[in-house]
Amino acid sequence: MTSRPARDGKLPLTELAAMVEREERIVMVTAYDFPSARLADAAGMDIVLVGDSAAMTVLGHSSTVPATMDEMLMLTRAVSRGAQRPLVVADMPFGSFQVSDEEALRNAIRFVKEAGADAVKLEGAGPSLSRVLALVGAGIPVMGHIGLTPQSATMLGGFKAQGKTAAKARRLLEDAVALEDAGCFSLVLEAVPAPVAARIGERLTIPTIGIGSGPDCDGQVLVLHDVLGLYEGRSPRFARRYADLATEIRGALERFAGEVRSGAFPTDEHTYAMPEEELAAFLGTTGSRAGSRTEA
Ligand code: KIV
Repeated sequence: MTSRPARDGKLPLTELAAMVEREERIVMVTAYDFPSARLADAAGMDIVLVGDSAAMTVLGHSSTVPATMDEMLMLTRAVSRGAQRPLVVADMPFGSFQVSDEEALRNAIRFVKEAGADAVKLEGAGPSLSRVLALVGAGIPVMGHIGLTPQSATMLGGFKAQGKTAAKARRLLEDAVALEDAGCFSLVLEAVPAPVAARIGERLTIPTIGIGSGPDCDGQVLVLHDVLGLYEGRSPRFARRYADLATEIRGALERFAGEVRSGAFPTDEHTYAMPEEELAAFLGTTGSRAGSRTEA
C-alpha cells in the first residue's frame, strides 16, 4: 500500500495499531458538519466518521440507502475543514461501490481528492473484498464494516444483531479475516454478540471498532446524534445518551420565540446606534408611512 504522509497535526493512520499495542482504546464518533467536527476534534476523538447515517440523522430519510455521493461529498468537505487531528473517514454510500472496482475507486478518489477524507469505509465482505484490494492498491486506506450493515438491512431481516448462531458467527470471523487480508486498516463490528466480537479481535491484527459489539473491541463508535440526544427518533439499544440536546435546543428556541412575540428581544444591547446628526438628516429627508413603528 502506498499511503500518503500524515498532514501536520493529523493522527497518523499507523498510530491506531500503536494505540492497540499500548492498550489504549480508539474513540470514533460520527460528524456531518463543520461545527460538530470541530467539537469532536476538541473533545479528543481519534477518528471522525462521516457516516451515511447522515441520511437518517441530518437528511430525514428512514434508512441510510438514499444517501448520495454528492451529499456525502458535501458533508465530508465540511467535516474535513473542522477535524484537524482526527482521521476523517468517509462512508461510501449505497450504490457508490457495488457496481464495479472501477466505480468504487473513482468514488473513493473523489472523497480523498475533493473532500479531504483520510480514508473511506465500505460495508460488507464477499464482493466488497475486491473493492478493498482496488482501493488499497491505489493508496486509499479502507475501513471495513461487518455485522449489521445498514445498507443491506432489508436482506438481513431488519436492524438486527448478526452472528447469533455458531455458523453465522464463524462466517463473520471468516469475513473479518478476509477483509484484513484484503488490506483494511481497521474493521467496524456492528451489533455482533460480545464474545463473537472478542474472538474476531483476537484473530485479527488490525483494530476492531465496535458499535453494539461489547467491550472487548479495540475501540468504540457511536452516532453523534445518539451521544448528544439530538435525534428524536428511537435510538438503538446499544447507544448511550450523554446529553439531551433535543430538549435543550427546543427550550432555547421556545424562549427565543416567546421573547420576540412579547417584545423582550431585541433590546438596546442588540441594536446599532448612529451619529445623531446623521439620523436627523436621514429622518429629515425621508418620509414615514402613517402608523409605522419607526415614525420619529
Ligand atoms: O453510518 C454510520 O454512522 C456508521 C456507524 C454506525 C459505524 O456506519
